[in-house]
Amino acid sequence: MERKQLIKKYLKFFESKGHKIIPNASLIPKDDPTVLFTTAGMHPLVPYLLGQKHPLGKKLVNIQKCIRTTDIEEVGDATHHTFFEMLGNWSLGDYWKKEAIEMSFEFLTKNLNIPKEKIIITCFKGDKNAKKDIESEKIWKSLGIKKIKFLGKKDNWWGPAGETGPCGPDSEMFVKGFEIWNNVFMQYDKDSKGNYNSLKQKNVDTGMGVERTLAILNNLDDNYLTEVWKPILDEIEHLFGISYNSEKNKRIMRIIADHTKAAVFIAAEGIIPSNKEQGYILRKLIRRAYTHLNKIGHYRNLIVPLIGTIFEIYPDYKHLHSQKDSIYKIIKEEENKFELTLDKGLRIFEKLTKNKKQLSGKNSFLLFQSYGFPLEIIEDLCKENKIRFSAKDFQKEQVQHQKLSQTASAGKFKSGLADHSEKTTKLHTATHLLNEALRSVLNKNINQRGSNITSERLRFDFNFPRKLTEQEIKKVENLVNKKISNALTIKREEMPLKKALASGIQSEFGSKYPNKVSVYNIGNFSREICTGPHVKNTKEIGKFKILKEESSAAGIRRIKAVIE
Ligand code: ALA
Repeated sequence: MERKQLIKKYLKFFESKGHKIIPNASLIPKDDPTVLFTTAGMHPLVPYLLGQKHPLGKKLVNIQKCIRTTDIEEVGDATHHTFFEMLGNWSLGDYWKKEAIEMSFEFLTKNLNIPKEKIIITCFKGDKNAKKDIESEKIWKSLGIKKIKFLGKKDNWWGPAGETGPCGPDSEMFVKGFEIWNNVFMQYDKDSKGNYNSLKQKNVDTGMGVERTLAILNNLDDNYLTEVWKPILDEIEHLFGISYNSEKNKRIMRIIADHTKAAVFIAAEGIIPSNKEQGYILRKLIRRAYTHLNKIGHYRNLIVPLIGTIFEIYPDYKHLHSQKDSIYKIIKEEENKFELTLDKGLRIFEKLTKNKKQLSGKNSFLLFQSYGFPLEIIEDLCKENKIRFSAKDFQKEQVQHQKLSQTASAGKFKSGLADHSEKTTKLHTATHLLNEALRSVLNKNINQRGSNITSERLRFDFNFPRKLTEQEIKKVENLVNKKISNALTIKREEMPLKKALASGIQSEFGSKYPNKVSVYNIGNFSREICTGPHVKNTKEIGKFKILKEESSAAGIRRIKAVIE
């Protein structure tokens, strides 16, 4: 059976049982700050599982794209994936165990034609939070299922998806040893203290893994041989002349395929590689894929040629196709960056280990921190060159570094200045020009959401819903440079905060100001509440250059710029 058919059958089956189809939601959860990605079909439904009324009713069904980052290290076997799709049906306080299990049974045996003798079931064995689930056992037995096992919380309890929220005991369906579907009976709400409180309504949340089910239905013992993976493996074989037939290659090729696919889907959400949150995961996936490709030979420009296969596998994901150019660009740039880093780092590694038998914690941390080497590359390099490496010493160094940087950031000036040198003074005035230039070029609703200045660069955050085009960036940069060459004088005036705000003078969103403030005027161009310091005339600033424009958080963009 093909992916397309499986999805269609599932949605049609549950529609015929009164369920309404809900959209395949974004991979970035809207309302849950405790997780980075949508990890299950129920995730976007949390408020409704907790009792809010859903506009489409109490019975829902969909196909949901998901990312699970806890599985990154496990990827490499036949069944683990970072990106996967989940089919699910929900009862929001409507049907309960009997109907849920009967529908699952009917779909598996009648629609997917899986003989009931091949189905093994597990149920919750009970603990201090919930009773042994003999109710589910009875229902499965009445349908003719013979193999039923009882397991504990580790296996037969699902949720919450984040740190808190709806969860409950579950009943899982296995075929040929693989779990393909899970019925969760969500009747608890876990709170931040770890208590399980009874929910207002009893919900059913189910999840069927598309990749695993396809493997079972097509008699494959390896998910990666199904149509949603095989084209990527074929392309790797074709491009790099290696075969999927050896155990060693299998693991490496699965990791490359998995990480590339996940990276494409994350980049399609407008995420850019960075050192935090979703951007960090994206960076990690690209760099890990790259590192593994290097294990089978030294190549350049490795991941980009694989991206096309993912577009072919998923013709139905329109958002993927409309973002094609930016996905290519994001992944290519990160790959290029990593290549440069690796080259530089390799030379440093040689220097650090020349005539030595061991790499110290300090030096391994230097490679990690300053040259962006993933730890596993450092370990591999040491192994290859018969150099001793101690993960413990590395960690010690890392902890020490974290302590130091915490102290350093605590000592920073409130206005975002790290020190008051001549250069930072220039950058501070340039920040005001940048703020106003963004408002002129993009729109007047732009407002500062954060600023940080070191003696090397300025960093400015502002509200804007999308990536800036190259033209827009150029326009902003040109406007700042024009105001610099116009030799505008900077004048400071004092006024009550209320008056400043009432006259529309710029201030940082959410910032607390004293009752009386300083307002800096740059010619007639910019007026901003600020604590300074500033240059006397814009011509002192020099040439302004934007280095980078990226996402900082949802709806917030970040610009890094320097003066030359
Ligand atoms: N939310 C449940 C799972 O992911 C159905 O297994």
